[in-house]
Amino acid sequence: MPRRIGIINSGGDCPGLNTVIDAIVKSLSVDYEILGFYKGFEGLLDLKYIKLEPEYTSVLKFQGGTFLKSVNKGHFAGKTGNGEFQELDKDILKQTVNNYKDLDLEALIVLGGDGTMSAAIQLQNIGINIIAVPKSIDNDLEGTDFTFGFNTAVEITSEALDRISTTAKSHDRIMILEVMGRNTGWIALYSGLSGGADMILIPEIPFNQQNVVDFFRQQYNAGHTYGLIVVAEGAVDVSGHVTTKNAGSKASMVSLGGIGEHIEVLLNSQPDLEARCTVLGHLQRGGSPNSWDRILSRSYGAYAGTMVRNKQYGYMVGYINGSFTQTKLEDCIDNLKKVNPDGNFVKRARELGVSFGD
Ligand code: F6P
Repeated sequence: MPRRIGIINSGGDCPGLNTVIDAIVKSLSVDYEILGFYKGFEGLLDLKYIKLEPEYTSVLKFQGGTFLKSVNKGHFAGKTGNGEFQELDKDILKQTVNNYKDLDLEALIVLGGDGTMSAAIQLQNIGINIIAVPKSIDNDLEGTDFTFGFNTAVEITSEALDRISTTAKSHDRIMILEVMGRNTGWIALYSGLSGGADMILIPEIPFNQQNVVDFFRQQYNAGHTYGLIVVAEGAVDVSGHVTTKNAGSKASMVSLGGIGEHIEVLLNSQPDLEARCTVLGHLQRGGSPNSWDRILSRSYGAYAGTMVRNKQYGYMVGYINGSFTQTKLEDCIDNLKKVNPDGNFVKRARELGVSFGD
């Protein structure tokens, strides 16, 4: 019987998933049989998997999405949002561990965000060896400076800002771009800086509605007759109210959305201002990973492979201050990694005259 490991890919879709999977396969396939489970942990529970060979994964490595498919709901949705831990069903966990043992797996390499990590820890506590790889376009995981997928999302978002800026200029309008970021404003902050936004609204810095109006009125009066706002879906005004849309019964988390439209209505209610809102939605996590995310994804996969060889279980790989690192799984999900309102890029943006609406 060959030594076996499994790959689990769970949570929201993200550019770079196939890239990491291929890198793991490349680094381990000589000594190990590698099983890829479909739809995250559900595939281990239902015994739905394929044997992964480099000839197969290599062809798909830069394709967006993932051939293993993914879910962010179901039996293993370990978290419902901002740091809440959700205990998973004990019988489900037990059955999953039994399947892991029956398949004679040595470890699982798990690709995911905080919800996936939370489920992985619960499985680890009852006997599964875990090595984790940080995935999220939101970049909100502790234990790494960058999750894979984030940089691609920023690039797409930045290009979208460039494109909507032409209508802003031609029509003397304020164009609003609503982007992902449930609890954190990383995409909004980075793309706002990169795309030259006049205003960046993020969950970490509650905005004041009157300040939003006053900022653009002053800009107009000073002769700057158009504007760009990038707003994270989880941005809140000082009342703390998060804007949600009807998620239906299928989602494990309530879907956010509508804050961009809310600001559009606010600005259009002013006689001298005109605004339009675009919601970028799932466009920002579709398609192939960009070059940085390819480098990061391939390196994370290779590093996870080395950790399998060294039997270094219970850690998440990461990239901190220019070095590849490993952090105890538990330390990666205690808190989400949020934008520091006094951090470097917020300060630099303010120096450039960008408003955070506060
Ligand atoms: O990956 C996290 C995220 O991008 C959030 O920012 C967003 O709220 C969520 O996924 C949307 O996921 P879906 O609509 O696919 O359930």
